[in-house]
Amino acid sequence: MPAATVADLVPTSGVLFGCDYNPEQWDRETWREDMVLMREAGIDLVAINIFGWSTINPAPGVWDFAALDEMMALLHENGIRVNLGTGTASPPPWLSSTYPETLPMAPDGTRRYPGGRQAFCPSSPIFREHAAHLVETVAERYGAHPALALWHVSNEIGCHNALCYCDESAEAFRSWLQSRYGTIDALNVAWGTNFWSQRYTDWAQILPPRATLSLRNPAQLLDFSRFSSDAGLELYRAEAEIIRRHSSAPVTTNFMVTAHIRTQDYWTWAGEMDVVANDHYLDRRLPDPAAELSFAADLTRGLAGGEPWLLMETSTSAVNWQPHNLAKAPGELVRNVASHIARGADGICFFQWRASAQGAEKFHSALLPHAGTDSALWRQSVELGALLRRLAPVAGTRVAASAALLFSWEAWWALENEGRPSEALSYLEQVHAAHNALTAAGLTVDIVRPGADLDARSVVIVPALHVLRATEAQAITDAARGGAHVLVTFATGTVDENDRVGLGGYPALLRETLGLRVEEFAPLRPEDTVVLSNGSTGSVWSERITVTGAEVVASFTTGPAAGGAALTRNALGAGAAWYVATALAPADYAALIDRLATDAQAPRLRASSGELELVRREDGARRFLFAINHTDQDATVHTSGHDLATQEDVSGTVVVAAGTVRIIEESA
Ligand code: GLA
Repeated sequence: MPAATVADLVPTSGVLFGCDYNPEQWDRETWREDMVLMREAGIDLVAINIFGWSTINPAPGVWDFAALDEMMALLHENGIRVNLGTGTASPPPWLSSTYPETLPMAPDGTRRYPGGRQAFCPSSPIFREHAAHLVETVAERYGAHPALALWHVSNEIGCHNALCYCDESAEAFRSWLQSRYGTIDALNVAWGTNFWSQRYTDWAQILPPRATLSLRNPAQLLDFSRFSSDAGLELYRAEAEIIRRHSSAPVTTNFMVTAHIRTQDYWTWAGEMDVVANDHYLDRRLPDPAAELSFAADLTRGLAGGEPWLLMETSTSAVNWQPHNLAKAPGELVRNVASHIARGADGICFFQWRASAQGAEKFHSALLPHAGTDSALWRQSVELGALLRRLAPVAGTRVAASAALLFSWEAWWALENEGRPSEALSYLEQVHAAHNALTAAGLTVDIVRPGADLDARSVVIVPALHVLRATEAQAITDAARGGAHVLVTFATGTVDENDRVGLGGYPALLRETLGLRVEEFAPLRPEDTVVLSNGSTGSVWSERITVTGAEVVASFTTGPAAGGAALTRNALGAGAAWYVATALAPADYAALIDRLATDAQAPRLRASSGELELVRREDGARRFLFAINHTDQDATVHTSGHDLATQEDVSGTVVVAAGTVRIIEESA
């Protein structure tokens, strides 16, 4: 559970408004203008020194804090609180030129060079020693500074360099394996090294999974993913431990709960953050970027244990790192921000304050664009600040959700390992499809870790949870017995935590719960679909199933499993355990969840007409309904109260115009 709350950071703010600021890129006159404009926009919290290492420590043993001292003082004078970077995110060129062994290595043994950022091996003892010294120096100097609100450890730890294959990583991987397995024999058993003559007789023989001629050992790959996530967490811990010796301010780092980064198992990180913070950018490469945002925000709330969290970075408009960096459409920023707050964010911060004129990110949008203050983007920033102020009453309330979705980074890693049944099966696509179906059926969803207590959940969905432990399977079974309506999808529970298949028919640990055995996977070509006897369509996957007790709700009528069960329901205790053996088309998936929600009598939020993203935050008698219209058609919802977005009273059938947002403080 987080040790601080977002509300502690800037107690006067309500929903906090913040940004990254890189004053190293600007002259003193610009700094002064920035202070005036930050006040005009209502900025509460500013992250500085994120990439400050080469400014404050320009050469070995040389320290220069003049500019940072000045900036801390300037922000303080202007009543703006500081989210202080430790500065370790990107080492200066002198470090790697003095110690080239700190540079990261790709799987093929080639080094990656400085000239970008994060050019270090996370396990490098020399990097760690220099980073620790930097953190000690910064924490000592600013630990009690009156402007300090929050410590920002490094930056997006592992964004570019999570997986390093150098000799120092090999050494660290071996120690990690020794503490996990104790003996080399235990490792041989866990990795199944009798396969392909891979049996190890000495720890020194073990390497990171470097590039090979054939498929690599999947259990080794899975452990390397775990090790690499832990190596990033160790960097965080080392910095946090130093900071806490010098400062009582809360400590965090910015997570990357997003579709394109999967190298950190944040379930294991989250408990060490004083405040859970996430960075999120719309990914225009996805079919539905706004739906992915909703999922990521729900997952961030899950990491925060249901407490309010901080959106540490997002963009006002375009980013610079996708193939086609689309500007946000009118209203899109407010919709995105509303969706984050609806799903538990109590603070919204942007990368970055002022758009860079130089460097790799000069085409990334900012609160203050290249065009300056005489621009629609700037006016939008000022209006957003005012909106966040009006949302102050929402801060501290909780999201009301009765459904749960089980999510696991381990399952993501293992399911997409080498040598799998089908490359068309993407873990995240299956998870997103499940989240979309729950949302379409009007359910608000908490995203939880496998093994979490599912008591009081009316609907539980377990999408493609490839890796499953006995305790995790038991929690799913208990939920169904206890009255939940549980849906398990194909590719769940195929292997244990060592990537070993459970024999006797999949999913070994849930066969009884589901009342069936999967005898064979029968994946589909990416372009193929199958039809089910209830009229539903499936893609990606099918299976040959023997039913041992479940009711067959629909069977495959076409495809490699034609004639066999496709959708089953096993009544269990007070609830039911459903199973689906294919990737249902979105409307069919939503209809299935609708049936489960009806059976479960789960509370739902639905538009009266049209399509709306609807989420409620509440705290006792205070209730806030977020109604977000992502479409180009007006929609309506039934409620009454005061709309904090438009500042008008509403009641009855309330219109949410195309592309707009209403945030209604509902009357009792
Ligand atoms: C990440 C980083 C920032 C910046 C943004 C650009 O979130 O943390 O430094 O590079 O991406 O989108």
